[in-house]
Amino acid sequence: MSKRKAPQESLNEGITDFLVELANYERNVNRAIHKYNAYRKAASVIAKYPHKIRSGTEAKKLDGVGAKISEKIDEFLTTGKLRKLEKIRNDDTSSSITFLTRVTGIGPAAARKFFEEGVKTLDDLRKIEHKLNHHQQIGLKYFEDFEKRIPRSEMLKMEAFILRELKNVEPEYIGTICGSFRRGAESSGDIDVLLTHPDFTSTSPKQPQLLNAVVEHLESLGFVTDTLSKGDTKFMGVCQCADDEDGSDYLHRRIDIRLIPRDQYFCGVLYFTGSDLFNKNMRTHALEKGFTLNEYTIRPLGVTGVAGEPLPVDSEKDIFDYIQWKYREPKERSE
Ligand code: TTP
Ligand code: MG
Repeated sequence: MSKRKAPQESLNEGITDFLVELANYERNVNRAIHKYNAYRKAASVIAKYPHKIRSGTEAKKLDGVGAKISEKIDEFLTTGKLRKLEKIRNDDTSSSITFLTRVTGIGPAAARKFFEEGVKTLDDLRKIEHKLNHHQQIGLKYFEDFEKRIPRSEMLKMEAFILRELKNVEPEYIGTICGSFRRGAESSGDIDVLLTHPDFTSTSPKQPQLLNAVVEHLESLGFVTDTLSKGDTKFMGVCQCADDEDGSDYLHRRIDIRLIPRDQYFCGVLYFTGSDLFNKNMRTHALEKGFTLNEYTIRPLGVTGVAGEPLPVDSEKDIFDYIQWKYREPKERSE
């Protein structure tokens, strides 16, 4: 998963920007995940709204915009700013913790701990590098690279490379680059690779070598440059495209590779294509129709609310069909 989200572009960019900033503040500084979700939800419905919002009252008609957010919108529209946000930005604790959480591997808790030890900047982090875990050290090493989003042209190049090399390891592998890239985004925060193989199902034994073989091959080609963590089914690391013939070189990028049992592949592809908000909405709709849906399976809910056996799934569309939802192409899954 990536830390840098694409900037929202809409008629109401000023409003959605301040809502996202407040959301991040609640998550990173206060660790108030419900407030974070509330601000994110409001930002997303406002981003979709096709008119320029002229008042808090107008915004309040939208699902997910309550009284408090509506007041903030009024303040923003009348004064052009928000006192709460000015205060947060000027507050040393908030701005330092927010900054530290931009390093991959540093979550809100670690950020607060470092801050309490007097660590506030990249330079401070470099001085206590020995206190960082491996993941955080890599996050620090590539901080500038990881801050930059990946243009679609580079994503396409990496997709072609990864899918080709997968087949070179073994032709039976199946791979999909998910995330924002699959939704057609012009830029992505990271590369989310899903992988499966006909030999590997949810009832077969673990097959870590299926993931290992791919990672090792990509390492041997110099594509995968660093490892953040590696388990039986999930690799998190860093990769870099080979230089072009014209000599242009590429930045280091965050890559996650997941090995998924064949029978759970499409639930995985659906989940990791997102967006996260789309996933939430789809899960809610599934529940209304009497199904429980997650990144692994879709299961019917019995009258007592107990989930039954996983239903067979051979495509993403099967999942939409079960819950009687019109199929949506990845490009139409922003929310
Ligand atoms: P991300 O890589 O975090 O998101 P993204 O690819 O949509 O955006 P970006 O360009 O910034 O990388 O996660 C990939 C998908 O995984 C996401 O689209 C949906 C799913 N997901 C959730 O549903 N919930 C979550 O909390 C996270 C982190 C991801
Ligand atoms: Mg992503």
